[in-house]
Amino acid sequence: MKILVLNGPNLNMLGIREPDIYGRKTYKDLVFTITDYCREKGVDVEVYQSNYEGKLVEKIQQAYGKFDGIVINPAAYTHTSVAILDALKAVGIRTVEVHISDVSAREDFRQISYVRLYAEKTISGLGFDGYLRAIDFLL
Ligand code: DQA
Repeated sequence: MKILVLNGPNLNMLGIREPDIYGRKTYKDLVFTITDYCREKGVDVEVYQSNYEGKLVEKIQQAYGKFDGIVINPAAYTHTSVAILDALKAVGIRTVEVHISDVSAREDFRQISYVRLYAEKTISGLGFDGYLRAIDFLL
């Protein structure tokens, strides 16, 4: 099983960024949490973060024929990006959407998710654990 974990803009700022919402653990801690869990489960994983929508689109396109599943936290692009939705639809890879915070309890503009229109499941508000539950779901 090969899983691609994608993180969108500002998630590289975890630990510094609004710690009351996203916690004090860093992006490096997140990568470690995911890779450690995947090692334990025998999953081949690649973890990628970008602040650029086009780079995330390219990464999704390049996953075609190479990955069995995608776990994606599109961050702010969740609420705006038709391009990321279309890329996921184009490759047809099973996808789980993850959010660290509970987006359903936040601002109105966060209630729209384009990726959700394709994702098999959305996991929100579980912190870093959400990524692990998403991997479990794909397994
Ligand atoms: C987020 C929620 C988004 O609304 C926000 O723009 C993010 C992070 C989350 O993980 O909770 O950057 O996706």
